[in-house]
Amino acid sequence: MTDTPSHLLQKAAAYLERPDQERITYIRSPRWIGYPRAQEILTQLENLLTHPKAHRMPNLLIVGDTNNGKTMLVRRFCNHHKPDDNPEGEAAKVPVLFVQAPPVPDEGRFYNAILELLFAPYKPGDRADRKQFQAIKLLRTVGLKMLVIDEIHHLLAGSMTKQKAFLNVIKYLGNELEVPIVGVGTRDAFRAIQTDLQLSNRFDQALLPRWANDEMFLRLLATFERSIPLRTPSNLTDGALADKIYSMSEGYLGEISRVLESAAVRAVETGLERIDKRLLDGIGWISPSDRRKEPRN
Ligand SMILES: Nc1ncnc2c1ncn2[C@@H]1O[C@H](COP(=O)(O)OP(=O)(O)OP(=O)(O)O)[C@@H](O)[C@H]1O
Ligand SMILES: [Mg+2]
Repeated sequence: MTDTPSHLLQKAAAYLERPDQERITYIRSPRWIGYPRAQEILTQLENLLTHPKAHRMPNLLIVGDTNNGKTMLVRRFCNHHKPDDNPEGEAAKVPVLFVQAPPVPDEGRFYNAILELLFAPYKPGDRADRKQFQAIKLLRTVGLKMLVIDEIHHLLAGSMTKQKAFLNVIKYLGNELEVPIVGVGTRDAFRAIQTDLQLSNRFDQALLPRWANDEMFLRLLATFERSIPLRTPSNLTDGALADKIYSMSEGYLGEISRVLESAAVRAVETGLERIDKRLLDGIGWISPSDRRKEPRN
């Protein structure tokens, strides 16, 4: 193998020797790009996980704009703390349970989701309190240490009565299991939790805001560039190019990743082998805010 080009990580460079189609598949596959804010939140989650059991456990609410890496971040954390079948013991060990909130604030469906994740037989028509009892018993058996609820704003949507009911569910689960609860969601979740003084005292917040066009953004672009296998350096951190990527993505991590992915695929297909302004102009990109506009007749 030839030497790793200095603009690429070794793993990305290895793809330069593969057929273009394989390289394109690699460019299109999801991959983790580290950035300082993500690292800070991952450390915060690790600290929560090892927090000694207490009657009053600290919780965390990860709040951020949409399409900005919240789910990917907590999933990465969960992947580091996978369940263990524990064949020698009596029950599987599930240190961290990642549950996606149902799209409507419905206690019964929330417990269904938990029971399904634990492969527990349950009767969907049972009353919510029975399912709650079953879920708590099981979560104790598997030695749960942290409950992660993604899209938590779904549970906290709806009338004040519904919101209150769910805030009580969260409180109850935390108290009964004595584990930290990590909620992941939009600012609506934050506002809902603020309405309950007891809960708002127990929830720390971690913000994952949209990126600003600053030094951190340039560092992020540099990290992306090192992980995208193109033969020639693109110098994405070059002022004009970085500004262009920023305005196309409007600072959402998911959009930054998609702009670069589409551009890199085009750079391979055309043989240009780097991303430049002209190539970005030619990928038919529609900015996120334009996408949200009503189509004109
Ligand atoms: N650390 C990362 N490295 C590389 N790409 C990332 C990273 N985090 C997020 N992305 C990209 O951003 C996209 C959106 O991320 P994610 O689904 O985590 O956003 P989200 O904040 O949970 O959005 P939503 O509010 O819609 O649920 C991912 O599909 C992925 O392409
Ligand atoms: Mg998400």
